[in-house]
Amino acid sequence: MALKIVLGLLSLSVPTLVEGSNWYASTPISQLKAKGQSTEKLSKRDANPETLYPAHNISVPIDHFQNESLYEPHTNGTFNLRYWFDASYYAPGGPVIVLESGEDTGDDRLPYLQKGLLHQLAQATNGIGVVLEHRYYGQSFPTPDLSTKNLRFLTTDQALADTAYFAQNVVFPGLEDQNLTAPNVPYIAYGGSYAGAFVAFLRVLYPDVYFGAIGSSGVVEAIWDYWQYFQPIIDYGPSECISNTQRLINVVDNILIGRNDTRLTNQLKRAFGLQNVTYNDDFANVLSSYVGAWQGRNWDPAVDASESFYEYCGNVSASTLQFNATAKQTRNVQWLLKAGGYGNETDSLTTPMLNLINYININDVQPCAAEGQTQDSCFGTHNATFYAQDDITQSWRSWPYQYCTQWGFLQTGSGFPSTELPLVSRTLTLEYESIICQDAFNITTPPDTDAINKYGGFNISYDRLALIDGEQDPWRPATAHSPAANNRTSTTDEPYIQIAGAVHHWDENGLFPNETTATLPPAPVAAAQSAEVSFVKQWLTEWKAPTRR
Ligand SMILES: *[C@@H]1O[C@H](CO)[C@@H](O)[C@H](O)[C@H]1NC(C)=O
Ligand SMILES: *[C@@H]1O[C@H](CO)[C@@H](O)[C@H](O)[C@H]1NC(C)=O
Ligand SMILES: *[C@@H]1O[C@H](CO)[C@@H](O)[C@H](O)[C@H]1NC(C)=O
Ligand SMILES: *[C@@H]1O[C@H](CO)[C@@H](O)[C@H](O)[C@H]1NC(C)=O
Ligand SMILES: *[C@@H]1O[C@H](CO)[C@@H](O)[C@H](O)[C@H]1NC(C)=O
Ligand SMILES: *[C@@H]1O[C@H](CO)[C@@H](O)[C@H](O)[C@H]1NC(C)=O
Ligand SMILES: *[C@@H]1O[C@H](CO)[C@@H](O)[C@H](O)[C@H]1NC(C)=O
Ligand SMILES: *[C@@H]1O[C@H](CO)[C@@H](O)[C@H](O)[C@H]1NC(C)=O
Ligand SMILES: *[C@@H]1O[C@H](CO)[C@@H](O)[C@H](O)[C@H]1NC(C)=O
Ligand SMILES: *[C@@H]1O[C@H](CO)[C@@H](O)[C@H](O)[C@H]1NC(C)=O
Ligand SMILES: *[C@@H]1O[C@H](CO)[C@@H](O)[C@H](O)[C@H]1NC(C)=O
Ligand SMILES: *[C@@H]1O[C@H](CO)[C@@H](O)[C@H](O)[C@H]1NC(C)=O
Repeated sequence: MALKIVLGLLSLSVPTLVEGSNWYASTPISQLKAKGQSTEKLSKRDANPETLYPAHNISVPIDHFQNESLYEPHTNGTFNLRYWFDASYYAPGGPVIVLESGEDTGDDRLPYLQKGLLHQLAQATNGIGVVLEHRYYGQSFPTPDLSTKNLRFLTTDQALADTAYFAQNVVFPGLEDQNLTAPNVPYIAYGGSYAGAFVAFLRVLYPDVYFGAIGSSGVVEAIWDYWQYFQPIIDYGPSECISNTQRLINVVDNILIGRNDTRLTNQLKRAFGLQNVTYNDDFANVLSSYVGAWQGRNWDPAVDASESFYEYCGNVSASTLQFNATAKQTRNVQWLLKAGGYGNETDSLTTPMLNLINYININDVQPCAAEGQTQDSCFGTHNATFYAQDDITQSWRSWPYQYCTQWGFLQTGSGFPSTELPLVSRTLTLEYESIICQDAFNITTPPDTDAINKYGGFNISYDRLALIDGEQDPWRPATAHSPAANNRTSTTDEPYIQIAGAVHHWDENGLFPNETTATLPPAPVAAAQSAEVSFVKQWLTEWKAPTRR
């Protein structure tokens, strides 16, 4: 699902929770705006799955918890929750396999009905494949606008209850003659990333409705200050790129934070052509935004979205000038390196910094100028007027509301221990990344991560709950394969698989049989997918319909 999304002025791949939704803490407003306006479209794909799988709605209660004060004032209203399905492999007795689409419009997940794990599972089990949208995303909005008051029904608990309600009530068009509700038929849930944690909680909370679940890259532990996002990138990224980035970011921080001298700061910003960015943190955010594209790496070249990561790395690791235009800045850069505490390393850092300046110029500064925008409107995150907009078209509000209220995952530089050089600037603090929480939702307190972690966090477990993670995933520190999680032994009942070399839910996407090659999918991905098909088949042998119990 790592589609490269071109948003507005900038074509950036940035740290996201799920690619395709393009979220990261402190997304410049220019990108939020573009998100609000556009429905991300599938690209680089085969037959347009939207024509193969028509959308359907199921009417679902807006408020499943009439007894909880959090949702006051309550409502008895309902809304349309969107879903798609493929019953072409279905045979009576087969399961319903629900791919929970998470914090993104559901149509971005439609390719998985055609190929990838969902398709493989449906085919292998004579099941029905379903993509189910999450409330407040895509077209599944329960309220007429996205005011803070009306967002009160956007909690993980309410969305989990929707998913259970779906299984208990759906009538699939064309299959009206069959009762395909839970618990009459086995329901299996799959999700990646936020949705991976979501289906893990689903299995724990609704074990009689969902017979099994596979959480892939499931971020089962909500963490407010999630600086650890960058740790796997440091550990597995190209070492020269990582080391040069750490040192250059340290130069920037030594100037912005250590020296705190307005003239020097302005000289630094001017060197990058970003002198009109008012806030120093917004400036540092631009320089920090490329490393997160590591998450967009995918084994399928048609899905891979890591191009900007490697372009960026190519520039900051090159030992020769990639563009002669910046050569005239050589002395200025040497001087800035010295001012930032690296006068002793100007030999190795001058060329990388000159190349970085040019890279930022080409990718950020020039496109912004070409659009006739101010630099604050392109790169800024401080704009209470923008965040105050809450009509139904401001769809950028949903995920920030969830992370401001419950999930956290603010990807800071400030959280790094003082003994380690961060990969992004230390000016990216909790306070900075929470601007949106205060300005958009009037939230000034930390998120209620306990509302999430009460389900078990790192050590969540349940029978027929599989936890599949990627070794090199920036989200692994929030999964059951985090170094902070207990080690487990994988069993058929509770599969626990770390995919070697993988990044974010690499088991989710797949190829048509006529597209596979000797190396695609890579062996660890193919092995994980085949293990998943195999343990789900095994689980289904344990299924007994209630009437036959
Ligand atoms: C589903 O519901 C949405 C929102 O109410 C509506 O716009 C859409 O037309 C409905 N789709 C179908 C297939 O009924
Ligand atoms: C509300 O009802 C649900 C389900 O019946 C229950 O699990 C929950 O504890 C109740 N909450 C409160 C605050 O009473
Ligand atoms: C919802 O319906 C129940 C049962 O009819 C009723 O007691 C309750 O007052 C209604 N709630 C609202 C908010 O209308
Ligand atoms: C399906 O069966 C359940 C009982 O197992 C029943 O409550 C429900 O009404 C049935 N649904 C349909 C659409 O027939
Ligand atoms: C920088 O200096 C200003 C005023 O001199 C001060 O208000 C601010 O707190 C300082 N910032 C840091 C990061 O030390
Ligand atoms: C910066 O602002 C000045 C003054 O408004 C303007 O003349 C200049 O074109 C701007 N430069 C850039 C790169 O945006
Ligand atoms: C930069 O200039 C040098 C010397 O003129 C030349 O050899 C080199 O090819 C140029 N590099 C680029 C990227 O244009
Ligand atoms: C250069 O100075 C920096 C900052 O004082 C220090 O961290 C680094 O180790 C030094 N590098 C070398 C090669 O001595
Ligand atoms: C802040 O956002 C508002 C509303 O989108 C916009 O009109 C204004 O130009 C923005 N201000 C800056 C400095 O970008
Ligand atoms: C923001 O929240 C505070 C504290 O909950 C409250 O007193 C204030 O009225 C709220 N402001 C707005 C604009 O809603
Ligand atoms: C977890 O167990 C596996 C298999 O025994 C072992 O290879 C790995 O080193 C263990 N990890 C930790 C963190 O103990
Ligand atoms: C490969 O298989 C898919 C699915 O069966 C089919 O739609 C597509 O046309 C095939 N491509 C080629 C090049 O044969």
